[in-house]
Amino acid sequence: MPIMNSENLAADLKALAESEISPQTLMKAIVTKLSANPKYNWVGFYMIENETSGEPILVLGPYSGAPTPHTRIALGQGICGAAASSGETVVVDDVNSDPRYLACSIETRSEIVAPVYAGGRVVGELDIDSHSHAAFGAEDQRICELAARLVGKSIEAHASKDRQGT
Ligand code: SME
Repeated sequence: MPIMNSENLAADLKALAESEISPQTLMKAIVTKLSANPKYNWVGFYMIENETSGEPILVLGPYSGAPTPHTRIALGQGICGAAASSGETVVVDDVNSDPRYLACSIETRSEIVAPVYAGGRVVGELDIDSHSHAAFGAEDQRICELAARLVGKSIEAHASKDRQGT
């Protein structure tokens, strides 16, 4: 199958989001779509939950790739925690030279994490790992942020439907 160009991919992601599926189903579909790119070796969502202590924590959601030992990540830990706590996309060209990095696979060389916003707050994030050094350029960042934004909008839309009882 030819690799999709990013315009087609962006259009596909938008079409998926418009199909009014649940946020969970949308996240699964986005993971499937993005993981078709051979340089995206691990693609997954982490969503923020509140522990009984009241501390927010990132909990692994839909993903594709090797199983990760990091199924729960504190907001002060890892590249994932950095993106969630700063509310900004984090791109790391060489994970082995970043002291924040929590290893998922020894093959991972670079990583991008884009926060998901809903209701003005960070509610989760999209994390993509690559076995290639510096795999994530401006186009990859645009796609990753688009996917994160679509999930945020879906969460907002479903929350307002729930409030209206529809
Ligand atoms: N590398 C991430 C942890 C998640 S795994 O890559 C899937 C981090 O440093 O937060």
